[in-house]
Amino acid sequence: MPEPTEFDHRRFRNALGCFGTGVTIVTTLDADGAPVGLTANSFTSVSLDPELLLVCLNRQSKSLPVFEAAETFAVNVLHVEQKELAQLFAMAAADRFRDTIWESGSTGAPIITGSLASFECSTYAEYDGGDHLIMVGRVVDVRFDDESDPLLYYRGAYRELHLD
Ligand SMILES: Cc1cc2nc3c(=O)[nH]c(=O)nc-3n(C[C@H](O)[C@H](O)[C@H](O)COP(=O)(O)O)c2cc1C
Repeated sequence: MPEPTEFDHRRFRNALGCFGTGVTIVTTLDADGAPVGLTANSFTSVSLDPELLLVCLNRQSKSLPVFEAAETFAVNVLHVEQKELAQLFAMAAADRFRDTIWESGSTGAPIITGSLASFECSTYAEYDGGDHLIMVGRVVDVRFDDESDPLLYYRGAYRELHLD
């Protein structure tokens, strides 16, 4: 199969941008117990029984080795007031947890306080996903807020839900 050209890559990305998503921050602890996390919108539910979800991590991600070594991780779904957190956790070389309020979940994985929903997982499987690693988690605990609206990502920009 021929290598896709730059043009094809851009078209592919633009087409993918038509699929509106929520925004998450995926977190874990490193070997020293320090919190690690990054913004990710590749979150997908996988299975109801057992309860599985997945997130795809770029192989270039500096956090990847930490996630590969970790036995647990959390997916924090952001609400509309958490856009700055999404930006912070996508920024290279930012001190992401300095001013971020978080707590340890039942697995120890960092739960970002006040998120729309948080899924705590034990690492269930990891699959090759091209330039990404597909990380499947078995959900061991959830918490969520019935009231807040989600932060959305669509066509390369953060969006808000407009009901009606
Ligand atoms: C809306 C949005 C969604 C993103 N989704 C993903 C994703 O699903 N997987 C991923 O690896 N990076 C994703 N990124 C990029 C990472 O957040 C970004 O590259 C981050 O700096 C990686 O951090 P690290 O290199 O410290 O691990 C996304 C960024 C944004 C703004």
